[in-house]
Amino acid sequence: MVKICCIGAGYVGGPTMAVIALKCPSIEVAVVDISVSRIAAWNSDQLPIYEPGLEGVVKQCRGTNLFFSTDVEKHVSEANIVFVSVNTPTKTQGLGAGKAADLTYWESAARVIADVSKSDKIVVEKSTVPVKTAEAIEKILTHNSKGIKFQILSNPEFLAEGTAIQDLFNPDRVLIGGRETPEGQKAIKALKDVYAHWVPEDRILTTNLWSAELSKLAANAFLAQRISSVNAMSALCEATGANVTQVAYAVGTDSRIGPKFLNASVGFGGSCFQKDILNLVYICECNGLPEVAEYWKQVIKINDYQKSRFVNRVVASMFNTVSRKKIAILGFAFKKDTGDTRETPAIDVCKGLLGDKARLSIYDPQVTEDQIQRDLTMNKFDWDHPPHLQPMSPSTVKQVAVVWDAYEATKDAHGLCILTEWDEFKNLDYKRIYDSMQKPAFVFDGRNVVDADKLREMGFIVYSIGKPLDPWLKDMPAVA
Ligand code: UDX
Ligand code: UDX
Ligand code: ADP
Repeated sequence: MVKICCIGAGYVGGPTMAVIALKCPSIEVAVVDISVSRIAAWNSDQLPIYEPGLEGVVKQCRGTNLFFSTDVEKHVSEANIVFVSVNTPTKTQGLGAGKAADLTYWESAARVIADVSKSDKIVVEKSTVPVKTAEAIEKILTHNSKGIKFQILSNPEFLAEGTAIQDLFNPDRVLIGGRETPEGQKAIKALKDVYAHWVPEDRILTTNLWSAELSKLAANAFLAQRISSVNAMSALCEATGANVTQVAYAVGTDSRIGPKFLNASVGFGGSCFQKDILNLVYICECNGLPEVAEYWKQVIKINDYQKSRFVNRVVASMFNTVSRKKIAILGFAFKKDTGDTRETPAIDVCKGLLGDKARLSIYDPQVTEDQIQRDLTMNKFDWDHPPHLQPMSPSTVKQVAVVWDAYEATKDAHGLCILTEWDEFKNLDYKRIYDSMQKPAFVFDGRNVVDADKLREMGFIVYSIGKPLDPWLKDMPAVA
Protein backbone atom coordinates (compact mmCIF):
# COMPACT_ATOMS: atom_id res chain seq x y z
CA MET A 1 0.00 0.00 0.00
CA VAL A 2 1.28 3.45 -0.95
CA LYS A 3 1.46 5.83 2.01
CA ILE A 4 1.60 9.55 1.49
CA CYS A 5 2.55 12.11 4.10
CA CYS A 6 2.22 15.84 3.55
CA ILE A 7 4.15 18.25 5.77
CA GLY A 8 2.14 21.48 6.08
CA ALA A 9 -1.64 21.52 6.56
CA GLY A 10 -2.30 24.90 4.97
CA TYR A 11 -4.23 26.27 2.01
CA VAL A 12 -2.31 24.05 -0.39
CA GLY A 13 -1.54 20.90 1.63
CA GLY A 14 -5.00 20.48 3.18
CA PRO A 15 -7.22 20.61 0.08
CA THR A 16 -4.71 18.83 -2.18
CA MET A 17 -4.31 15.88 0.16
CA ALA A 18 -8.04 15.68 0.80
CA VAL A 19 -8.65 15.32 -2.94
CA ILE A 20 -5.86 12.75 -3.35
CA ALA A 21 -7.44 10.73 -0.53
CA LEU A 22 -10.89 10.99 -2.12
CA LYS A 23 -9.70 9.96 -5.57
CA CYS A 24 -7.30 7.22 -4.41
CA PRO A 25 -9.08 5.03 -1.83
CA SER A 26 -6.16 2.58 -1.94
CA ILE A 27 -3.69 5.22 -0.72
CA GLU A 28 -3.37 6.27 2.91
CA VAL A 29 -2.80 10.01 3.26
CA ALA A 30 -1.55 11.72 6.44
CA VAL A 31 -1.32 15.50 6.67
CA VAL A 32 0.98 16.72 9.42
CA ASP A 33 1.73 20.16 10.84
CA ILE A 34 3.60 21.62 13.78
CA SER A 35 0.60 23.79 14.60
CA VAL A 36 -1.50 21.96 17.18
CA SER A 37 -4.46 24.31 16.70
CA ARG A 38 -4.45 23.93 12.94
CA ILE A 39 -4.48 20.14 13.15
CA ALA A 40 -7.21 20.26 15.79
CA ALA A 41 -9.28 22.39 13.43
CA TRP A 42 -8.77 19.95 10.54
CA ASN A 43 -10.06 17.23 12.86
CA SER A 44 -13.12 19.26 13.91
CA ASP A 45 -16.33 20.46 12.26
CA GLN A 46 -14.82 23.91 11.83
CA LEU A 47 -12.05 23.49 9.23
CA PRO A 48 -9.22 26.03 9.47
CA ILE A 49 -9.82 27.35 5.95
CA TYR A 50 -12.97 28.33 4.10
CA GLU A 51 -13.08 26.74 0.67
CA PRO A 52 -16.30 25.80 -1.17
CA GLY A 53 -16.71 22.01 -1.39
CA LEU A 54 -13.78 21.23 0.93
CA GLU A 55 -15.86 20.19 3.90
CA GLY A 56 -17.70 17.53 1.89
CA VAL A 57 -14.46 16.01 0.63
CA VAL A 58 -12.84 15.98 4.08
CA LYS A 59 -15.90 14.44 5.70
CA GLN A 60 -15.94 11.62 3.16
CA CYS A 61 -12.36 10.50 3.78
CA ARG A 62 -11.31 11.68 7.22
CA GLY A 63 -10.69 8.71 9.50
CA THR A 64 -10.78 6.29 6.54
CA ASN A 65 -7.73 7.04 4.42
CA LEU A 66 -7.17 10.69 5.36
CA PHE A 67 -5.62 11.66 8.69
CA PHE A 68 -4.52 14.94 10.23
CA SER A 69 -1.82 14.73 12.88
CA THR A 70 0.91 16.62 14.70
CA ASP A 71 3.06 13.50 14.84
CA VAL A 72 5.31 14.63 12.00
CA GLU A 73 8.03 12.06 12.65
CA LYS A 74 5.81 8.99 12.72
CA HIS A 75 3.98 9.76 9.49
CA VAL A 76 7.06 10.89 7.62
CA SER A 77 8.92 7.75 8.56
CA GLU A 78 6.05 5.51 7.41
CA ALA A 79 5.46 7.23 4.06
CA ASN A 80 6.75 6.29 0.62
CA ILE A 81 5.99 9.71 -0.78
CA VAL A 82 6.46 12.86 1.31
CA PHE A 83 4.94 16.11 0.02
CA VAL A 84 6.38 19.29 1.48
CA SER A 85 3.86 22.07 1.51
CA VAL A 86 5.14 24.41 4.18
CA ASN A 87 5.05 28.17 3.81
CA THR A 88 7.85 29.94 1.95
CA PRO A 89 7.41 33.60 2.89
CA THR A 90 9.44 36.51 1.61
CA LYS A 91 12.54 37.08 3.73
CA THR A 92 12.13 40.00 6.11
CA GLN A 93 15.75 40.27 7.20
CA GLY A 94 19.26 39.66 5.96
CA LEU A 95 20.44 38.84 2.47
CA GLY A 96 17.66 39.30 -0.10
CA ALA A 97 15.25 40.82 2.46
CA GLY A 98 11.99 41.91 0.83
CA LYS A 99 12.61 39.74 -2.23
CA ALA A 100 14.13 36.31 -1.68
CA ALA A 101 12.12 33.39 -0.36
CA ASP A 102 12.64 32.42 3.25
CA LEU A 103 13.36 28.72 3.19
CA THR A 104 13.61 28.25 6.97
CA TYR A 105 10.44 26.17 7.18
CA TRP A 106 11.43 24.14 4.15
CA GLU A 107 14.87 23.44 5.51
CA SER A 108 13.57 22.30 8.86
CA ALA A 109 11.07 20.00 7.11
CA ALA A 110 13.92 18.53 5.04
CA ARG A 111 15.99 17.93 8.16
CA VAL A 112 13.11 16.11 9.83
CA ILE A 113 12.74 13.90 6.75
CA ALA A 114 16.46 13.09 6.80
CA ASP A 115 16.40 12.40 10.56
CA VAL A 116 13.46 10.03 10.76
CA SER A 117 13.59 8.14 7.46
CA LYS A 118 14.41 4.44 7.65
CA SER A 119 13.47 3.59 4.05
CA ASP A 120 13.91 5.16 0.59
CA LYS A 121 11.51 8.00 -0.15
CA ILE A 122 10.24 10.28 -2.84
CA VAL A 123 10.21 13.88 -1.59
CA VAL A 124 7.88 16.19 -3.48
CA GLU A 125 8.16 19.99 -3.49
CA LYS A 126 4.62 21.24 -3.45
CA SER A 127 5.01 24.79 -2.15
CA THR A 128 6.37 27.33 -4.61
CA VAL A 129 10.09 27.65 -4.17
CA PRO A 130 12.92 29.44 -5.96
CA VAL A 131 14.45 27.62 -8.90
CA LYS A 132 17.16 25.21 -7.76
CA THR A 133 15.65 24.70 -4.31
CA ALA A 134 15.37 21.02 -5.11
CA GLU A 135 19.12 20.91 -5.44
CA ALA A 136 19.59 22.45 -1.99
CA ILE A 137 17.05 20.10 -0.47
CA GLU A 138 18.70 17.15 -2.13
CA LYS A 139 21.98 18.17 -0.48
CA ILE A 140 20.43 18.39 2.99
CA LEU A 141 18.82 15.00 2.51
CA THR A 142 21.79 13.15 1.09
CA HIS A 143 24.30 14.62 3.56
CA ASN A 144 22.15 13.46 6.46
CA SER A 145 20.75 10.31 4.95
CA LYS A 146 22.49 7.38 6.65
CA GLY A 147 22.47 5.47 3.38
CA ILE A 148 18.82 6.03 2.53
CA LYS A 149 18.00 7.13 -1.03
CA PHE A 150 15.85 10.17 -1.71
CA GLN A 151 14.41 11.22 -5.04
CA ILE A 152 13.32 14.85 -5.25
CA LEU A 153 10.43 15.85 -7.46
CA SER A 154 8.94 19.27 -8.12
CA ASN A 155 5.15 19.14 -8.39
CA PRO A 156 3.94 22.74 -8.13
CA GLU A 157 0.29 23.33 -7.26
CA PHE A 158 -1.73 25.56 -9.57
CA LEU A 159 -5.02 25.66 -7.65
CA ALA A 160 -6.59 29.04 -6.99
CA GLU A 161 -8.26 29.74 -3.66
CA GLY A 162 -12.03 29.89 -3.71
CA THR A 163 -12.07 27.28 -6.51
CA ALA A 164 -9.50 24.89 -5.04
CA ILE A 165 -11.66 21.77 -5.08
CA GLN A 166 -12.85 22.32 -8.65
CA ASP A 167 -9.27 23.07 -9.74
CA LEU A 168 -8.01 19.88 -8.07
CA PHE A 169 -10.80 17.73 -9.53
CA ASN A 170 -10.25 19.05 -13.01
CA PRO A 171 -6.78 20.59 -13.37
CA ASP A 172 -5.63 22.22 -16.63
CA ARG A 173 -2.46 20.25 -16.08
CA VAL A 174 -0.42 18.49 -13.42
CA LEU A 175 3.28 19.26 -13.66
CA ILE A 176 5.93 16.87 -12.40
CA GLY A 177 9.62 17.65 -12.65
CA GLY A 178 12.36 15.21 -11.77
CA ARG A 179 15.91 14.14 -12.40
CA GLU A 180 16.64 12.75 -15.85
CA THR A 181 18.23 9.60 -14.37
CA PRO A 182 16.51 6.18 -14.33
CA GLU A 183 15.78 6.62 -10.59
CA GLY A 184 14.39 10.09 -11.23
CA GLN A 185 12.14 8.76 -14.02
CA LYS A 186 10.95 5.96 -11.76
CA ALA A 187 9.97 8.48 -9.10
CA ILE A 188 8.13 10.60 -11.68
CA LYS A 189 6.21 7.48 -12.74
CA ALA A 190 5.24 6.73 -9.12
CA LEU A 191 3.80 10.21 -8.61
CA LYS A 192 2.15 10.13 -12.04
CA ASP A 193 0.37 6.93 -11.00
CA VAL A 194 -1.17 8.78 -8.06
CA TYR A 195 -2.63 11.55 -10.23
CA ALA A 196 -3.62 9.10 -12.98
CA HIS A 197 -6.41 7.90 -10.65
CA TRP A 198 -8.43 10.88 -11.90
CA VAL A 199 -6.40 13.14 -14.20
CA PRO A 200 -6.26 12.21 -17.91
CA GLU A 201 -2.77 11.15 -18.93
CA ASP A 202 -2.30 13.90 -21.52
CA ARG A 203 -2.74 16.51 -18.80
CA ILE A 204 0.14 15.18 -16.72
CA LEU A 205 3.25 16.96 -17.95
CA THR A 206 6.72 15.82 -17.03
CA THR A 207 9.83 18.02 -17.24
CA ASN A 208 13.21 18.35 -15.64
CA LEU A 209 13.35 19.73 -12.09
CA TRP A 210 14.29 23.29 -12.97
CA SER A 211 11.62 23.67 -15.64
CA ALA A 212 8.94 22.58 -13.18
CA GLU A 213 10.15 24.98 -10.52
CA LEU A 214 10.44 27.89 -12.95
CA SER A 215 7.09 27.16 -14.64
CA LYS A 216 5.26 27.85 -11.43
CA LEU A 217 6.94 31.23 -10.95
CA ALA A 218 6.42 32.02 -14.64
CA ALA A 219 2.73 31.10 -14.63
CA ASN A 220 2.03 33.31 -11.64
CA ALA A 221 4.08 36.14 -13.15
CA PHE A 222 2.13 35.91 -16.45
CA LEU A 223 -1.21 35.86 -14.61
CA ALA A 224 -0.29 38.83 -12.43
CA GLN A 225 1.02 40.65 -15.49
CA ARG A 226 -2.39 40.38 -17.16
CA ILE A 227 -4.01 42.06 -14.19
CA SER A 228 -1.43 44.81 -14.02
CA SER A 229 -1.87 45.31 -17.78
CA VAL A 230 -5.62 45.68 -17.53
CA ASN A 231 -5.28 47.81 -14.38
CA ALA A 232 -2.82 50.11 -16.15
CA MET A 233 -5.43 50.42 -18.92
CA SER A 234 -8.10 51.20 -16.32
CA ALA A 235 -6.23 54.38 -15.33
CA LEU A 236 -6.05 55.42 -18.97
CA CYS A 237 -9.74 54.59 -19.45
CA GLU A 238 -10.69 56.92 -16.60
CA ALA A 239 -8.57 59.67 -18.14
CA THR A 240 -10.02 59.28 -21.64
CA GLY A 241 -13.63 58.24 -21.14
CA ALA A 242 -13.13 54.70 -22.42
CA ASN A 243 -14.72 51.84 -20.44
CA VAL A 244 -12.27 49.18 -19.25
CA THR A 245 -14.88 46.40 -19.37
CA GLN A 246 -15.51 47.14 -23.05
CA VAL A 247 -11.80 47.39 -23.79
CA ALA A 248 -11.02 44.13 -21.94
CA TYR A 249 -13.81 42.34 -23.78
CA ALA A 250 -12.61 43.59 -27.15
CA VAL A 251 -9.01 42.64 -26.36
CA GLY A 252 -9.92 39.25 -24.87
CA THR A 253 -11.89 38.08 -27.90
CA ASP A 254 -8.59 37.80 -29.77
CA SER A 255 -8.04 34.07 -29.43
CA ARG A 256 -4.31 34.67 -29.01
CA ILE A 257 -5.07 36.67 -25.87
CA GLY A 258 -8.19 34.97 -24.48
CA PRO A 259 -11.00 36.35 -22.34
CA LYS A 260 -10.12 35.12 -18.85
CA PHE A 261 -8.34 36.98 -16.07
CA LEU A 262 -8.88 40.45 -17.48
CA ASN A 263 -11.01 42.01 -14.77
CA ALA A 264 -9.74 45.40 -13.70
CA SER A 265 -9.64 45.69 -9.91
CA VAL A 266 -8.29 47.63 -6.98
CA GLY A 267 -5.25 45.37 -7.31
CA PHE A 268 -4.32 41.74 -7.08
CA GLY A 269 -3.62 40.07 -3.77
CA GLY A 270 -3.13 36.57 -2.45
CA SER A 271 -0.19 34.69 -1.10
CA CYS A 272 1.40 33.93 -4.47
CA PHE A 273 1.54 36.68 -7.06
CA GLN A 274 3.64 39.30 -5.33
CA LYS A 275 5.79 36.78 -3.50
CA ASP A 276 6.54 34.77 -6.60
CA ILE A 277 7.35 37.82 -8.71
CA LEU A 278 9.66 39.21 -6.03
CA ASN A 279 11.29 35.85 -5.99
CA LEU A 280 11.63 35.86 -9.77
CA VAL A 281 13.12 39.35 -9.65
CA TYR A 282 15.65 38.24 -7.07
CA ILE A 283 16.62 35.19 -9.11
CA CYS A 284 17.09 37.37 -12.22
CA GLU A 285 19.28 39.78 -10.30
CA CYS A 286 21.37 36.94 -8.88
CA ASN A 287 21.83 35.57 -12.38
CA GLY A 288 23.07 38.92 -13.76
CA LEU A 289 19.84 39.78 -15.60
CA PRO A 290 18.90 43.25 -14.28
CA GLU A 291 16.82 44.14 -17.37
CA VAL A 292 14.64 41.06 -16.93
CA ALA A 293 14.33 41.79 -13.21
CA GLU A 294 13.25 45.36 -13.97
CA TYR A 295 10.62 44.14 -16.47
CA TRP A 296 8.85 41.94 -13.90
CA LYS A 297 9.22 44.50 -11.12
CA GLN A 298 6.87 46.78 -13.06
CA VAL A 299 4.03 44.30 -12.54
CA ILE A 300 4.25 44.92 -8.80
CA LYS A 301 4.78 48.65 -9.18
CA ILE A 302 1.57 48.97 -11.21
CA ASN A 303 -0.25 46.92 -8.58
CA ASP A 304 0.96 49.28 -5.84
CA TYR A 305 0.04 52.25 -8.03
CA GLN A 306 -3.47 50.88 -8.52
CA LYS A 307 -4.04 50.64 -4.76
CA SER A 308 -2.75 54.13 -4.03
CA ARG A 309 -4.71 55.53 -6.99
CA PHE A 310 -7.84 54.09 -5.39
CA VAL A 311 -7.08 55.67 -2.01
CA ASN A 312 -6.38 59.00 -3.69
CA ARG A 313 -9.72 58.87 -5.50
CA VAL A 314 -11.52 58.33 -2.22
CA VAL A 315 -9.75 61.15 -0.44
CA ALA A 316 -9.85 63.60 -3.38
CA SER A 317 -13.55 63.17 -4.04
CA MET A 318 -14.45 63.71 -0.39
CA PHE A 319 -13.09 67.26 -0.41
CA ASN A 320 -9.51 66.12 0.02
CA THR A 321 -10.00 64.88 3.54
CA VAL A 322 -11.40 61.80 5.20
CA SER A 323 -10.28 62.83 8.65
CA ARG A 324 -12.75 61.50 11.25
CA LYS A 325 -15.18 60.48 8.52
CA LYS A 326 -16.67 57.03 8.76
CA ILE A 327 -15.91 54.92 5.72
CA ALA A 328 -17.41 51.49 5.24
CA ILE A 329 -15.18 48.78 3.82
CA LEU A 330 -17.12 45.95 2.21
CA GLY A 331 -14.87 42.95 1.69
CA PHE A 332 -11.42 42.37 3.15
CA ALA A 333 -10.38 38.97 1.71
CA PHE A 334 -8.11 39.09 -1.35
CA LYS A 335 -10.88 37.59 -3.53
CA LYS A 336 -14.36 36.17 -3.04
CA ASP A 337 -15.07 32.73 -1.61
CA THR A 338 -12.07 32.69 0.69
CA GLY A 339 -11.33 33.98 4.18
CA ASP A 340 -7.67 34.43 3.24
CA THR A 341 -6.30 37.95 3.62
CA ARG A 342 -2.67 37.39 2.69
CA GLU A 343 -1.51 40.40 0.64
CA THR A 344 -5.12 41.51 0.13
CA PRO A 345 -5.32 44.96 -1.50
CA ALA A 346 -7.68 45.84 1.37
CA ILE A 347 -4.69 46.07 3.71
CA ASP A 348 -2.99 48.82 1.73
CA VAL A 349 -6.25 50.63 0.99
CA CYS A 350 -7.27 50.59 4.66
CA LYS A 351 -3.81 51.66 5.80
CA GLY A 352 -3.94 54.52 3.27
CA LEU A 353 -7.31 55.70 4.56
CA LEU A 354 -6.23 55.31 8.18
CA GLY A 355 -3.16 57.38 7.34
CA ASP A 356 -5.59 60.14 6.40
CA LYS A 357 -7.33 59.65 9.78
CA ALA A 358 -10.50 58.01 8.50
CA ARG A 359 -12.64 55.85 10.79
CA LEU A 360 -13.23 52.47 9.18
CA SER A 361 -16.11 50.07 9.62
CA ILE A 362 -15.17 46.80 7.96
CA TYR A 363 -17.42 43.92 6.95
CA ASP A 364 -16.33 40.69 5.30
CA PRO A 365 -18.45 37.53 5.43
CA GLN A 366 -15.45 35.25 6.08
CA VAL A 367 -12.72 37.25 7.81
CA THR A 368 -12.57 37.55 11.60
CA GLU A 369 -11.95 40.73 13.56
CA ASP A 370 -8.76 39.26 14.95
CA GLN A 371 -7.38 38.64 11.51
CA ILE A 372 -8.24 42.14 10.27
CA GLN A 373 -6.65 43.78 13.30
CA ARG A 374 -3.57 41.65 12.88
CA ASP A 375 -3.30 42.51 9.19
CA LEU A 376 -3.61 46.23 9.82
CA THR A 377 -0.93 46.28 12.50
CA MET A 378 1.54 43.92 10.89
CA ASN A 379 4.58 44.96 8.91
CA LYS A 380 4.84 44.25 5.21
CA PHE A 381 5.98 40.65 4.60
CA ASP A 382 5.18 39.50 8.13
CA TRP A 383 1.79 38.37 6.84
CA ASP A 384 3.01 35.05 5.54
CA HIS A 385 4.68 33.98 8.73
CA PRO A 386 1.86 32.02 10.37
CA PRO A 387 0.57 33.59 13.61
CA HIS A 388 1.71 30.65 15.72
CA LEU A 389 5.23 31.10 14.37
CA GLN A 390 5.26 34.87 14.95
CA PRO A 391 7.07 36.29 17.97
CA MET A 392 4.75 39.11 19.05
CA SER A 393 1.07 39.89 19.03
CA PRO A 394 0.50 43.36 17.62
CA SER A 395 -1.70 46.00 19.20
CA THR A 396 -5.10 46.86 17.74
CA VAL A 397 -6.02 49.83 15.61
CA LYS A 398 -8.48 52.08 17.45
CA GLN A 399 -9.93 53.75 14.34
CA VAL A 400 -11.15 50.37 13.07
CA ALA A 401 -14.44 48.64 13.86
CA VAL A 402 -15.17 45.20 12.44
CA VAL A 403 -18.88 44.44 12.07
CA TRP A 404 -20.90 41.44 10.90
CA ASP A 405 -23.35 43.14 8.61
CA ALA A 406 -23.03 45.38 5.53
CA TYR A 407 -25.87 47.64 6.73
CA GLU A 408 -24.20 48.16 10.09
CA ALA A 409 -20.93 49.00 8.33
CA THR A 410 -22.53 51.60 6.06
CA LYS A 411 -24.83 53.28 8.62
CA ASP A 412 -23.87 56.99 8.98
CA ALA A 413 -20.86 56.45 6.71
CA HIS A 414 -19.74 59.15 4.26
CA GLY A 415 -18.51 56.63 1.76
CA LEU A 416 -18.36 52.92 1.09
CA CYS A 417 -15.55 51.04 -0.61
CA ILE A 418 -16.08 47.61 -2.17
CA LEU A 419 -12.76 45.80 -2.01
CA THR A 420 -13.78 42.13 -2.55
CA GLU A 421 -16.22 40.91 -5.18
CA TRP A 422 -18.42 38.84 -2.82
CA ASP A 423 -21.67 37.94 -4.65
CA GLU A 424 -23.78 39.30 -1.79
CA PHE A 425 -22.51 42.83 -2.49
CA LYS A 426 -24.33 42.80 -5.83
CA ASN A 427 -27.70 42.34 -4.19
CA LEU A 428 -27.57 44.62 -1.17
CA ASP A 429 -30.49 47.00 -0.64
CA TYR A 430 -28.58 50.07 -1.80
CA LYS A 431 -31.61 52.33 -1.37
CA ARG A 432 -31.66 51.43 2.31
CA ILE A 433 -27.91 52.00 2.49
CA TYR A 434 -28.21 55.39 0.77
CA ASP A 435 -30.90 56.51 3.22
CA SER A 436 -28.74 55.59 6.21
CA MET A 437 -25.57 57.34 4.98
CA GLN A 438 -24.28 60.91 5.28
CA LYS A 439 -24.77 63.04 2.17
CA PRO A 440 -23.28 63.33 -0.33
CA ALA A 441 -22.99 59.54 -0.22
CA PHE A 442 -20.12 57.96 -2.12
CA VAL A 443 -19.57 54.47 -3.49
CA PHE A 444 -16.06 53.46 -4.55
CA ASP A 445 -16.36 50.17 -6.35
CA GLY A 446 -12.94 48.53 -6.48
CA ARG A 447 -14.27 45.38 -8.15
CA ASN A 448 -16.90 46.67 -10.57
CA VAL A 449 -19.69 44.72 -8.88
CA VAL A 450 -22.47 47.32 -8.61
CA ASP A 451 -24.70 48.79 -11.31
CA ALA A 452 -23.30 52.32 -11.18
CA ASP A 453 -26.14 53.90 -13.20
CA LYS A 454 -28.78 52.47 -10.88
CA LEU A 455 -26.89 53.73 -7.84
CA ARG A 456 -26.51 57.19 -9.38
CA GLU A 457 -30.27 57.32 -9.88
CA MET A 458 -30.64 56.75 -6.14
CA GLY A 459 -28.39 59.73 -5.47
CA PHE A 460 -24.99 58.11 -4.90
CA ILE A 461 -21.80 59.51 -6.35
CA VAL A 462 -20.14 56.43 -7.81
CA TYR A 463 -16.56 55.65 -8.76
CA SER A 464 -16.02 52.40 -10.67
CA ILE A 465 -12.51 51.28 -11.63
CA GLY A 466 -11.75 52.12 -15.27
CA LYS A 467 -15.23 53.46 -16.10
CA PRO A 468 -16.18 56.89 -17.42
CA LEU A 469 -16.07 59.24 -14.45
CA ASP A 470 -18.98 60.68 -12.55
CA PRO A 471 -19.07 64.48 -13.21
CA TRP A 472 -18.33 64.99 -9.49
CA LEU A 473 -15.07 63.05 -9.76
CA LYS A 474 -14.00 64.99 -12.85
CA ASP A 475 -14.19 68.15 -10.75
CA MET A 476 -12.13 66.55 -7.96
CA PRO A 477 -9.09 65.15 -9.74
CA ALA A 478 -7.00 62.64 -7.85
CA VAL A 479 -3.27 62.92 -8.13
CA ALA A 480 -1.57 59.58 -7.59
C1 UDX B 1 -3.09 32.20 -7.94
C2 UDX B 1 -3.05 31.42 -9.25
O1 UDX B 1 -4.24 31.68 -10.01
C3 UDX B 1 -2.91 29.94 -8.98
O2 UDX B 1 -2.80 29.23 -10.20
C4 UDX B 1 -1.68 29.70 -8.12
O3 UDX B 1 -1.58 28.35 -7.79
C5 UDX B 1 -1.75 30.54 -6.85
O4 UDX B 1 -1.94 31.91 -7.17
P1 UDX B 1 -4.95 32.71 -6.11
O5 UDX B 1 -3.98 33.72 -5.62
O6 UDX B 1 -5.55 31.75 -5.14
O7 UDX B 1 -4.27 31.82 -7.25
O8 UDX B 1 -6.19 33.47 -6.83
P2 UDX B 1 -6.39 34.16 -8.24
O9 UDX B 1 -7.74 33.78 -8.71
O10 UDX B 1 -5.29 33.92 -9.19
O11 UDX B 1 -6.46 35.71 -7.89
C6 UDX B 1 -5.32 36.44 -7.47
C7 UDX B 1 -5.66 37.91 -7.32
O12 UDX B 1 -5.90 38.51 -8.58
C8 UDX B 1 -6.93 38.17 -6.50
O13 UDX B 1 -6.72 39.25 -5.64
C9 UDX B 1 -7.95 38.49 -7.54
O14 UDX B 1 -8.99 39.30 -7.07
C10 UDX B 1 -7.12 39.22 -8.57
N1 UDX B 1 -7.70 39.20 -9.92
C11 UDX B 1 -7.86 38.02 -10.56
C12 UDX B 1 -8.05 40.39 -10.55
O15 UDX B 1 -7.90 41.48 -9.98
N2 UDX B 1 -8.57 40.34 -11.81
C13 UDX B 1 -8.74 39.17 -12.49
O16 UDX B 1 -9.20 39.22 -13.64
C14 UDX B 1 -8.37 37.97 -11.84
C1 UDX C 1 0.11 42.25 -35.58
C2 UDX C 1 -1.14 41.75 -34.88
O1 UDX C 1 -1.04 40.34 -34.67
C3 UDX C 1 -2.36 42.05 -35.69
O2 UDX C 1 -3.53 41.66 -34.97
C4 UDX C 1 -2.42 43.55 -35.98
O3 UDX C 1 -3.53 43.82 -36.80
C5 UDX C 1 -1.12 44.02 -36.63
O4 UDX C 1 0.00 43.65 -35.83
P1 UDX C 1 1.66 41.34 -37.52
O5 UDX C 1 2.61 42.36 -37.04
O6 UDX C 1 1.36 41.28 -38.98
O7 UDX C 1 0.25 41.51 -36.78
O8 UDX C 1 2.14 39.88 -37.13
P2 UDX C 1 2.16 39.01 -35.77
O9 UDX C 1 1.85 37.62 -36.13
O10 UDX C 1 1.38 39.61 -34.67
O11 UDX C 1 3.69 39.08 -35.40
C6 UDX C 1 4.36 40.25 -34.96
C7 UDX C 1 5.80 39.92 -34.60
O12 UDX C 1 5.83 39.15 -33.39
C8 UDX C 1 6.53 39.10 -35.65
O13 UDX C 1 7.84 39.60 -35.79
C9 UDX C 1 6.53 37.70 -35.06
O14 UDX C 1 7.62 36.95 -35.53
C10 UDX C 1 6.64 37.99 -33.57
N1 UDX C 1 6.14 36.90 -32.70
C11 UDX C 1 4.82 36.51 -32.72
C12 UDX C 1 6.99 36.24 -31.84
O15 UDX C 1 8.19 36.58 -31.77
N2 UDX C 1 6.51 35.23 -31.04
C13 UDX C 1 5.21 34.85 -31.05
O16 UDX C 1 4.82 33.93 -30.29
C14 UDX C 1 4.33 35.52 -31.94
P1 ADP D 1 0.22 27.51 1.82
O1 ADP D 1 -0.72 28.60 1.38
O2 ADP D 1 1.46 27.44 0.98
O3 ADP D 1 -0.44 26.19 1.98
P2 ADP D 1 0.15 27.94 4.70
O4 ADP D 1 0.85 29.01 5.50
O5 ADP D 1 -1.34 27.97 4.63
O6 ADP D 1 0.80 27.97 3.25
O7 ADP D 1 0.55 26.49 5.27
C1 ADP D 1 1.82 26.11 5.61
C2 ADP D 1 1.76 25.24 6.86
O8 ADP D 1 3.03 24.62 7.06
C3 ADP D 1 1.45 26.00 8.16
O9 ADP D 1 0.29 25.46 8.76
C4 ADP D 1 2.71 25.76 9.05
O10 ADP D 1 2.38 25.57 10.42
C5 ADP D 1 3.26 24.48 8.47
N1 ADP D 1 4.68 24.28 8.73
C6 ADP D 1 5.70 25.16 8.58
N2 ADP D 1 6.89 24.59 8.89
C7 ADP D 1 6.62 23.30 9.25
C8 ADP D 1 7.43 22.17 9.66
N3 ADP D 1 8.76 22.26 9.74
N4 ADP D 1 6.79 21.01 9.96
C9 ADP D 1 5.45 20.91 9.86
N5 ADP D 1 4.65 21.90 9.46
C10 ADP D 1 5.21 23.09 9.16
